[in-house]
Amino acid sequence: MTSTTPSSDAVLDVQNLVKHFPLTTGIVFKRHVGSVQAVDGVSFELRKGETLGVVGESGCGKSTLAKLLMRLEEPTSGRVMYNGENIYDLRGKALREMRRKIQIVFQDPYSSLNPRMTVGDIVGEPYEIHPEAAPKGQRRAKVQELLDIVGLNPEHINRYPHQFSGGQRQRIGIARGLALRPDVIICDEPVSALDVSVQAQVVNLLESLQDEFGLSYIFIAHDLSVVRHISDRVAVMYLGRVAEIGSDAQIYEKPTHPYTQALLSAVPVPDPSVRGQRQQILLSGDVPSPASPPSGCRFRTRCWKATDLCAEQTPELVVRPGSDHESACHYADVREDVVVHH
Ligand SMILES: Nc1ncnc2c1ncn2[C@@H]1O[C@H](COP(=O)(O)OP(=O)(O)OP(=O)(O)O)[C@@H](O)[C@H]1O
Ligand code: SF4
Ligand SMILES: [Mg+2]
Repeated sequence: MTSTTPSSDAVLDVQNLVKHFPLTTGIVFKRHVGSVQAVDGVSFELRKGETLGVVGESGCGKSTLAKLLMRLEEPTSGRVMYNGENIYDLRGKALREMRRKIQIVFQDPYSSLNPRMTVGDIVGEPYEIHPEAAPKGQRRAKVQELLDIVGLNPEHINRYPHQFSGGQRQRIGIARGLALRPDVIICDEPVSALDVSVQAQVVNLLESLQDEFGLSYIFIAHDLSVVRHISDRVAVMYLGRVAEIGSDAQIYEKPTHPYTQALLSAVPVPDPSVRGQRQQILLSGDVPSPASPPSGCRFRTRCWKATDLCAEQTPELVVRPGSDHESACHYADVREDVVVHH
Protein backbone atom coordinates (compact mmCIF):
# COMPACT_ATOMS: atom_id res chain seq x y z
CA MET A 1 0.00 0.00 0.00
CA THR A 2 2.96 2.34 -0.31
CA SER A 3 2.41 5.28 -2.57
CA THR A 4 5.98 5.38 -3.79
CA THR A 5 7.07 3.97 -7.11
CA PRO A 6 10.16 1.76 -6.93
CA SER A 7 13.42 3.58 -7.43
CA SER A 8 15.72 2.26 -10.11
CA ASP A 9 18.14 0.92 -7.51
CA ALA A 10 15.59 -1.36 -5.83
CA VAL A 11 16.86 -4.94 -5.50
CA LEU A 12 13.59 -6.20 -4.09
CA ASP A 13 10.26 -4.50 -4.63
CA VAL A 14 7.66 -6.00 -2.32
CA GLN A 15 4.09 -5.28 -3.41
CA ASN A 16 1.10 -5.85 -1.17
CA LEU A 17 2.36 -9.17 0.17
CA VAL A 18 -0.19 -11.29 2.02
CA LYS A 19 0.20 -14.62 3.81
CA HIS A 20 -2.79 -16.14 5.58
CA PHE A 21 -2.34 -19.57 7.18
CA PRO A 22 -5.52 -21.65 7.25
CA LEU A 23 -6.84 -22.50 10.72
CA THR A 24 -8.39 -25.94 10.85
CA THR A 25 -10.06 -28.14 13.47
CA GLY A 26 -10.48 -31.91 13.52
CA ILE A 27 -7.94 -34.60 12.79
CA VAL A 28 -9.64 -36.80 10.20
CA PHE A 29 -12.07 -34.31 8.71
CA LYS A 30 -10.13 -31.07 8.71
CA ARG A 31 -12.49 -28.13 8.67
CA HIS A 32 -11.40 -24.66 7.75
CA VAL A 33 -12.42 -22.36 10.61
CA GLY A 34 -10.54 -19.19 9.78
CA SER A 35 -7.05 -17.99 9.03
CA VAL A 36 -4.00 -16.54 10.74
CA GLN A 37 -3.25 -13.25 9.01
CA ALA A 38 0.50 -13.46 9.55
CA VAL A 39 1.41 -10.96 6.82
CA ASP A 40 -1.37 -8.74 5.52
CA GLY A 41 -0.53 -6.23 2.81
CA VAL A 42 3.16 -5.44 3.22
CA SER A 43 4.90 -3.22 0.66
CA PHE A 44 8.40 -1.80 0.65
CA GLU A 45 11.53 -1.79 -1.43
CA LEU A 46 15.02 -2.88 -0.58
CA ARG A 47 17.63 -0.73 -2.31
CA LYS A 48 20.99 -1.89 -3.57
CA GLY A 49 23.63 -1.93 -0.84
CA GLU A 50 21.29 -0.84 1.95
CA THR A 51 20.18 -2.47 5.17
CA LEU A 52 16.49 -2.37 5.90
CA GLY A 53 15.75 -3.13 9.54
CA VAL A 54 12.43 -4.84 10.29
CA VAL A 55 11.24 -4.63 13.90
CA GLY A 56 8.15 -5.63 15.80
CA GLU A 57 6.95 -7.77 18.68
CA SER A 58 6.90 -11.55 18.66
CA GLY A 59 4.28 -12.92 16.28
CA CYS A 60 3.93 -9.79 14.13
CA GLY A 61 4.97 -11.71 11.02
CA LYS A 62 8.69 -11.01 10.66
CA SER A 63 9.80 -14.59 10.03
CA THR A 64 6.85 -15.25 7.74
CA LEU A 65 7.90 -12.19 5.74
CA ALA A 66 11.49 -13.50 5.64
CA LYS A 67 10.31 -16.87 4.32
CA LEU A 68 8.11 -15.20 1.71
CA LEU A 69 11.05 -13.11 0.47
CA MET A 70 13.07 -16.32 -0.02
CA ARG A 71 10.07 -18.14 -1.45
CA LEU A 72 10.26 -20.70 1.33
CA GLU A 73 6.54 -19.91 1.62
CA GLU A 74 4.13 -19.15 -1.22
CA PRO A 75 2.07 -16.00 -0.65
CA THR A 76 -1.71 -15.81 -0.44
CA SER A 77 -1.37 -12.80 -2.74
CA GLY A 78 1.07 -10.08 -3.69
CA ARG A 79 4.36 -9.94 -5.54
CA VAL A 80 8.07 -9.67 -4.86
CA MET A 81 9.91 -8.23 -7.83
CA TYR A 82 13.57 -9.19 -8.15
CA ASN A 83 15.50 -8.14 -11.26
CA GLY A 84 12.24 -7.15 -12.90
CA GLU A 85 10.54 -10.51 -12.32
CA ASN A 86 8.03 -11.70 -9.76
CA ILE A 87 9.86 -14.41 -7.76
CA TYR A 88 6.61 -16.40 -7.41
CA ASP A 89 6.40 -16.77 -11.21
CA LEU A 90 9.93 -18.18 -11.55
CA ARG A 91 10.45 -21.79 -12.63
CA GLY A 92 13.41 -24.02 -13.46
CA LYS A 93 16.71 -22.28 -14.10
CA ALA A 94 15.45 -18.81 -13.20
CA LEU A 95 14.14 -20.09 -9.85
CA ARG A 96 17.46 -21.77 -9.09
CA GLU A 97 19.29 -18.56 -9.90
CA MET A 98 17.00 -16.60 -7.56
CA ARG A 99 17.66 -19.16 -4.82
CA ARG A 100 21.39 -18.54 -5.22
CA LYS A 101 21.06 -14.80 -5.07
CA ILE A 102 18.75 -14.43 -2.05
CA GLN A 103 20.10 -16.11 1.08
CA ILE A 104 19.03 -16.29 4.71
CA VAL A 105 20.86 -16.31 8.04
CA PHE A 106 18.78 -17.65 10.92
CA GLN A 107 18.51 -16.65 14.55
CA ASP A 108 19.66 -19.73 16.32
CA PRO A 109 23.09 -20.66 15.05
CA TYR A 110 22.93 -24.00 16.84
CA SER A 111 19.67 -25.50 15.71
CA SER A 112 20.13 -24.23 12.15
CA LEU A 113 23.47 -26.06 11.82
CA ASN A 114 23.42 -29.85 11.53
CA PRO A 115 25.46 -31.10 14.55
CA ARG A 116 26.66 -34.19 12.68
CA MET A 117 28.17 -32.26 9.78
CA THR A 118 31.61 -30.70 9.85
CA VAL A 119 31.92 -26.98 9.38
CA GLY A 120 33.41 -27.62 5.96
CA ASP A 121 30.37 -29.67 4.92
CA ILE A 122 27.96 -27.08 6.32
CA VAL A 123 29.58 -24.10 4.61
CA GLY A 124 30.10 -26.11 1.39
CA GLU A 125 26.58 -27.55 1.32
CA PRO A 126 25.26 -24.84 -1.03
CA TYR A 127 27.78 -26.11 -3.62
CA GLU A 128 26.13 -29.56 -3.50
CA ILE A 129 22.82 -27.93 -4.35
CA HIS A 130 24.34 -25.53 -6.89
CA PRO A 131 27.35 -27.46 -8.27
CA GLU A 132 27.78 -24.92 -11.06
CA ALA A 133 28.86 -22.35 -8.42
CA ALA A 134 32.15 -24.15 -7.67
CA PRO A 135 33.89 -27.03 -9.43
CA LYS A 136 34.38 -30.00 -7.09
CA GLY A 137 38.16 -29.64 -6.95
CA GLN A 138 37.90 -26.03 -5.76
CA ARG A 139 35.30 -26.43 -3.05
CA ARG A 140 37.58 -27.04 -0.10
CA ALA A 141 39.69 -24.00 -0.94
CA LYS A 142 36.53 -21.92 -1.38
CA VAL A 143 35.17 -23.03 1.98
CA GLN A 144 38.47 -22.20 3.67
CA GLU A 145 38.43 -18.79 2.05
CA LEU A 146 34.87 -18.23 3.34
CA LEU A 147 35.91 -19.22 6.86
CA ASP A 148 38.74 -16.74 6.65
CA ILE A 149 36.42 -13.99 5.36
CA VAL A 150 34.09 -14.36 8.36
CA GLY A 151 36.97 -14.40 10.83
CA LEU A 152 37.20 -18.12 11.55
CA ASN A 153 40.35 -20.22 11.37
CA PRO A 154 40.37 -22.03 7.98
CA GLU A 155 42.18 -24.93 9.66
CA HIS A 156 39.05 -25.64 11.71
CA ILE A 157 37.26 -26.88 8.59
CA ASN A 158 36.90 -30.42 10.01
CA ARG A 159 35.45 -29.39 13.36
CA TYR A 160 31.82 -29.79 14.39
CA PRO A 161 29.39 -27.01 15.41
CA HIS A 162 29.55 -27.89 19.14
CA GLN A 163 33.26 -27.08 19.11
CA PHE A 164 32.48 -23.41 18.44
CA SER A 165 31.04 -20.59 20.57
CA GLY A 166 27.64 -19.06 19.80
CA GLY A 167 29.20 -16.10 18.00
CA GLN A 168 31.46 -18.38 15.99
CA ARG A 169 28.51 -20.56 15.03
CA GLN A 170 26.73 -17.49 13.73
CA ARG A 171 29.85 -16.76 11.66
CA ILE A 172 29.54 -20.28 10.21
CA GLY A 173 25.93 -19.50 9.26
CA ILE A 174 27.07 -16.26 7.62
CA ALA A 175 29.86 -18.05 5.71
CA ARG A 176 27.30 -20.51 4.36
CA GLY A 177 25.04 -17.60 3.40
CA LEU A 178 27.91 -16.04 1.44
CA ALA A 179 28.96 -19.21 -0.39
CA LEU A 180 26.89 -18.59 -3.50
CA ARG A 181 27.78 -14.87 -3.73
CA PRO A 182 24.25 -13.60 -3.10
CA ASP A 183 22.87 -10.09 -3.76
CA VAL A 184 20.54 -10.14 -0.78
CA ILE A 185 20.85 -11.71 2.67
CA ILE A 186 17.80 -11.92 4.88
CA CYS A 187 19.02 -11.93 8.49
CA ASP A 188 16.24 -13.24 10.73
CA GLU A 189 17.24 -12.18 14.25
CA PRO A 190 20.88 -13.06 13.58
CA VAL A 191 22.16 -11.74 16.90
CA SER A 192 19.16 -12.15 19.20
CA ALA A 193 20.48 -15.40 20.71
CA LEU A 194 23.97 -14.00 21.34
CA ASP A 195 25.55 -12.22 24.31
CA VAL A 196 25.50 -8.44 23.98
CA SER A 197 29.30 -8.26 23.65
CA VAL A 198 29.24 -10.79 20.79
CA GLN A 199 26.26 -9.13 19.07
CA ALA A 200 28.38 -6.09 18.19
CA GLN A 201 31.10 -8.27 16.66
CA VAL A 202 28.63 -10.10 14.43
CA VAL A 203 26.93 -6.84 13.42
CA ASN A 204 30.34 -5.34 12.57
CA LEU A 205 31.18 -8.41 10.50
CA LEU A 206 27.90 -8.11 8.58
CA GLU A 207 28.65 -4.44 7.90
CA SER A 208 32.14 -5.06 6.58
CA LEU A 209 30.89 -7.91 4.36
CA GLN A 210 28.19 -5.61 3.01
CA ASP A 211 30.80 -3.09 1.88
CA GLU A 212 33.11 -5.73 0.47
CA PHE A 213 30.49 -7.66 -1.51
CA GLY A 214 27.89 -4.96 -2.21
CA LEU A 215 25.20 -6.88 -0.33
CA SER A 216 21.71 -5.70 0.53
CA TYR A 217 20.32 -6.83 3.87
CA ILE A 218 16.95 -7.26 5.47
CA PHE A 219 17.84 -7.25 9.17
CA ILE A 220 15.05 -8.55 11.39
CA ALA A 221 14.94 -7.96 15.14
CA HIS A 222 12.30 -7.52 17.81
CA ASP A 223 14.20 -4.69 19.41
CA LEU A 224 14.61 -1.20 17.95
CA SER A 225 17.96 -0.58 19.61
CA VAL A 226 19.59 -3.60 17.93
CA VAL A 227 18.74 -2.48 14.39
CA ARG A 228 19.67 1.16 14.88
CA HIS A 229 23.38 0.68 14.41
CA ILE A 230 23.19 -1.38 11.22
CA SER A 231 20.10 -0.07 9.42
CA ASP A 232 19.86 2.63 6.76
CA ARG A 233 16.08 2.45 6.90
CA VAL A 234 13.69 0.79 9.31
CA ALA A 235 10.22 -0.72 8.91
CA VAL A 236 8.18 -1.13 12.08
CA MET A 237 5.67 -4.00 11.89
CA TYR A 238 2.55 -4.58 13.93
CA LEU A 239 0.23 -7.57 13.45
CA GLY A 240 1.24 -8.37 9.89
CA ARG A 241 1.44 -4.82 8.60
CA VAL A 242 3.99 -2.04 8.32
CA ALA A 243 3.10 0.71 10.81
CA GLU A 244 5.86 3.13 9.85
CA ILE A 245 8.86 3.13 7.53
CA GLY A 246 11.64 5.64 7.08
CA SER A 247 15.30 6.39 7.36
CA ASP A 248 17.15 5.74 10.55
CA ALA A 249 16.87 9.42 11.52
CA GLN A 250 13.17 9.61 10.64
CA ILE A 251 12.19 6.60 12.71
CA TYR A 252 14.45 7.21 15.70
CA GLU A 253 14.22 10.99 15.91
CA LYS A 254 10.87 11.89 14.34
CA PRO A 255 8.58 8.89 14.92
CA THR A 256 4.97 9.58 13.96
CA HIS A 257 3.17 6.28 14.62
CA PRO A 258 2.01 5.70 18.20
CA TYR A 259 3.32 2.13 18.11
CA THR A 260 6.83 3.27 17.09
CA GLN A 261 6.68 5.93 19.79
CA ALA A 262 5.78 3.33 22.41
CA LEU A 263 8.59 1.00 21.28
CA LEU A 264 11.10 3.85 21.37
CA SER A 265 9.99 5.01 24.78
CA ALA A 266 10.74 1.52 26.10
CA VAL A 267 14.35 1.49 24.87
CA PRO A 268 16.53 1.65 27.98
CA VAL A 269 18.86 4.64 28.33
CA PRO A 270 22.15 4.00 30.06
CA ASP A 271 22.80 7.67 30.91
CA PRO A 272 20.67 8.64 33.98
CA SER A 273 20.89 12.39 33.23
CA VAL A 274 18.81 12.04 30.05
CA ARG A 275 16.49 9.41 31.46
CA GLY A 276 14.29 11.88 33.31
CA GLN A 277 13.44 13.92 30.20
CA ARG A 278 11.90 11.03 28.33
CA GLN A 279 8.30 9.94 28.42
CA GLN A 280 7.62 6.27 29.02
CA ILE A 281 4.60 4.93 27.19
CA LEU A 282 3.24 1.77 28.75
CA LEU A 283 1.00 -0.05 26.31
CA SER A 284 -2.07 -1.61 27.85
CA GLY A 285 -3.28 -5.05 26.86
CA ASP A 286 -1.69 -7.78 24.77
CA VAL A 287 -1.15 -8.01 21.04
CA PRO A 288 -4.46 -9.25 19.58
CA SER A 289 -4.52 -12.62 17.82
CA PRO A 290 -3.64 -12.45 14.13
CA ALA A 291 -6.55 -14.87 13.62
CA SER A 292 -9.02 -12.11 14.56
CA PRO A 293 -7.26 -8.76 14.22
CA PRO A 294 -9.13 -5.56 15.11
CA SER A 295 -11.00 -3.81 12.28
CA GLY A 296 -9.50 -0.70 10.76
CA CYS A 297 -6.20 0.11 12.42
CA ARG A 298 -4.82 -3.04 14.00
CA PHE A 299 -3.13 -1.04 16.74
CA ARG A 300 -6.33 0.66 17.91
CA THR A 301 -7.02 -1.68 20.86
CA ARG A 302 -3.79 -0.47 22.47
CA CYS A 303 -3.63 3.07 21.13
CA TRP A 304 -4.25 6.05 23.39
CA LYS A 305 -5.20 8.21 20.40
CA ALA A 306 -7.79 5.86 18.86
CA THR A 307 -11.12 7.29 17.67
CA ASP A 308 -14.13 5.81 15.85
CA LEU A 309 -12.40 6.52 12.57
CA CYS A 310 -9.60 4.14 13.55
CA ALA A 311 -12.09 1.26 13.89
CA GLU A 312 -13.80 2.10 10.61
CA GLN A 313 -10.98 2.89 8.23
CA THR A 314 -7.67 1.12 7.74
CA PRO A 315 -4.98 3.81 7.74
CA GLU A 316 -2.86 3.61 4.60
CA LEU A 317 0.92 3.69 4.77
CA VAL A 318 1.50 7.14 3.27
CA VAL A 319 3.43 10.33 3.96
CA ARG A 320 1.14 12.58 6.01
CA PRO A 321 1.12 16.38 6.36
CA GLY A 322 3.76 17.62 8.79
CA SER A 323 5.90 14.53 8.31
CA ASP A 324 8.49 13.40 5.80
CA HIS A 325 8.03 9.61 5.81
CA GLU A 326 5.32 6.98 5.57
CA SER A 327 3.13 6.17 8.54
CA ALA A 328 -0.02 4.04 8.76
CA CYS A 329 -1.82 6.27 11.26
CA HIS A 330 -4.78 8.60 10.65
CA TYR A 331 -3.32 10.98 13.22
CA ALA A 332 0.39 10.59 12.50
CA ASP A 333 2.26 13.28 14.37
CA VAL A 334 5.93 13.71 15.22
CA ARG A 335 6.65 13.12 18.88
CA GLU A 336 10.12 13.80 20.22
CA ASP A 337 9.70 13.29 23.96
CA VAL A 338 10.16 9.52 23.55
CA VAL A 339 13.33 9.74 21.49
CA VAL A 340 16.66 8.38 22.72
CA HIS A 341 19.26 11.11 22.12
CA HIS A 342 22.78 10.03 21.36
N1 LIG B 1 3.16 -22.43 9.31
C1 LIG B 1 2.31 -21.71 10.06
N2 LIG B 1 1.03 -22.12 10.23
C2 LIG B 1 0.17 -21.39 10.97
N3 LIG B 1 0.48 -20.23 11.56
C3 LIG B 1 1.73 -19.77 11.43
C4 LIG B 1 2.71 -20.49 10.68
N4 LIG B 1 3.88 -19.78 10.73
C5 LIG B 1 3.63 -18.68 11.48
N5 LIG B 1 2.34 -18.68 11.90
C6 LIG B 1 1.69 -17.63 12.71
O1 LIG B 1 1.86 -16.41 12.06
C7 LIG B 1 2.11 -15.35 12.98
C8 LIG B 1 3.41 -14.68 12.65
O2 LIG B 1 4.48 -15.58 12.95
P1 LIG B 1 6.01 -15.22 12.67
O3 LIG B 1 6.83 -16.38 13.02
O4 LIG B 1 6.12 -14.69 11.29
O5 LIG B 1 6.25 -14.02 13.69
P2 LIG B 1 7.61 -13.31 14.15
O6 LIG B 1 7.36 -11.86 14.04
O7 LIG B 1 8.75 -13.88 13.40
O8 LIG B 1 7.71 -13.69 15.70
P3 LIG B 1 9.01 -13.93 16.60
O9 LIG B 1 9.50 -12.55 16.98
O10 LIG B 1 8.46 -14.65 17.79
O11 LIG B 1 10.01 -14.71 15.81
C9 LIG B 1 2.07 -16.01 14.36
O12 LIG B 1 0.78 -15.85 14.90
C10 LIG B 1 2.36 -17.45 14.07
O13 LIG B 1 1.77 -18.27 15.05
S1 SF4 C 1 -4.84 5.07 13.23
FE1 SF4 C 1 -5.83 5.52 15.19
S2 SF4 C 1 -5.58 3.65 16.40
FE2 SF4 C 1 -4.17 3.52 14.67
S3 SF4 C 1 -2.26 4.28 15.46
FE3 SF4 C 1 -3.30 6.01 14.53
S4 SF4 C 1 -4.47 6.97 16.17
FE4 SF4 C 1 -3.86 4.96 16.90
MG1 LIG D 1 10.52 -14.85 13.97
